[in-house]
This record gives sequence, C-alpha cells and structure tokens, in this order.
Amino acid sequence: MAKDVIIACDFPSGEETLAFLDKFQGRARPYVKIGMELFYAQGPDIVKRLKDRGHPVFLDLKLHDIPNTVGRAMEVLSRLGADMINLHAAGGSAMMEAAMEGLSRGGGQRPLLIAVTQLTSTSQERLEQELLIPRPMEEVVTSYARTAKAAGLDGVVCSPLEAGTIHAACGEGFLTVTPGVRFAGAAGDDQQRVTTPAGARSLGSDYIVVGRPITQAPDPLAAYEKCLKDFLTDNNE
Ligand code: C5P
Repeated sequence: MAKDVIIACDFPSGEETLAFLDKFQGRARPYVKIGMELFYAQGPDIVKRLKDRGHPVFLDLKLHDIPNTVGRAMEVLSRLGADMINLHAAGGSAMMEAAMEGLSRGGGQRPLLIAVTQLTSTSQERLEQELLIPRPMEEVVTSYARTAKAAGLDGVVCSPLEAGTIHAACGEGFLTVTPGVRFAGAAGDDQQRVTTPAGARSLGSDYIVVGRPITQAPDPLAAYEKCLKDFLTDNNE
C-alpha cells in the first residue's frame, strides 16, 4: 500500500502556497493538503492549480451537516479533481453513506473518502468534560472508525497513536491518515496526541500529515526530506 508524507499547506493565499511549493521544484511533487484557510481564501480553483502542477491533493474541509447537504456538497467537491476528501465521522453513518453516494464520479473514478474521528487537538480531558463522552479516547476513535468502514469509507484521520488499534479493528487496508506529527524534541503547538515520523511509521500510519514542522522550518525542503526518510525507511529510530 502507498505510504506518503502529506504537507499541510496552511497558508492564507494561493500566492504564498505556490511560492512555498516553488522550493520543491525539480523534485517529485509532494502530496499536499488544502485546508479551510487556503480553500476559503482562494476558492475551488486552488485545487485545480495544484493538480495542474502535478501535486496529489488532499482536500481537508471536514464536512459535517445533514446527509442531504453533505451528499450534494461532495458531488460538487468530487468534480474538482482532489485525490482525497474528508468529513467528520461524528455526523453519523447516514451522513457518511450520503457522502459516498455524492462522491462517485463518471468512469468509476472517485477521490478517497476519509473520516475525522477525534481531532488530534482534543485531549482525553476535553473529550470527557466538554464533549461529555466518558470513554477512553482509543475506544471512541475505534468505534467511529468501525462506523466509517461500515458506511463504505476508505479510512480515517486519527492520531498516529491510534493507527495500530484501528488497523486491528478495521483491517490493514483501511487507511489511517495521521496528523499530530512532530520531530523529536520539538514543541507540539496546539496538538495533543503526537509522535515523530519514525514513531508514526512503527505504529502503522499510512499517510502522515505534517504542517508547521515543514512549513515553518528554516529549510522546508530539508524538513520534508527528513520526514520522508524517517517515515518511509526502516530502522532509523
Ligand atoms: O501544523 P500541523 O502539523 O499541526 O498541522 C496539522 C494539520 O492537520 C492541520 O492542517 C490540521 O488542520 C490538520 N488536522 C489535524 N487533526 C485532525 C485533522 C486534521 O491536525 N484530526
């Protein structure tokens, strides 16, 4: 199964994103993630611009609404050409099934559909005290993953710390896309459930999503290459 590093392009404009990605010229085009900040600032055309430059694109808009609305929105989004799209598993199985129906493009082609389980910025304490879910995080995340799989989705967004449990529950072919990755000794920022790229590899993540450790690095290309090496190569811990 393909494993890869996805760079979270959390920039306020298309210009800044393209200028950042110019640093990668002459290399294989990295997989990139377009999140809410960039998509809302720049509009749908940014997906096409990045695809035209040869980048695989993960469109991270985390849809969460009634089934009919999400299904119709997915129909529109699937035409943009992204390779991976997501929604919140908390929207429930009817919403996820409607999303799958909406996604189907002509010719049997469609983007991968991935469900966010619990945000990697959510701690156990917040889960219990604000969301009023009095269960261990791992149990909650695994239950959401099972529901996503039953609804026909391709995988989940989760913490690397949960990737092994999710594969055990949902099968090795069920994708785990994992943010919450930091180099050893670096600050976690607002992320709570974090590990290193090598740790994510050994825990079984399929894709790691890395933002600030690459975008804010003094040498982003070197940081990306270190992520790739640590995540894809065995025996480097
Ligand atoms: O900068 P950092 O590496 O923390 O970026 C992580 C990226 O992954 C952000 O774009 C964030 O929106 C996204 N993400 C996340 N947790 C999730 C789903 C997506 O951090 N559960």
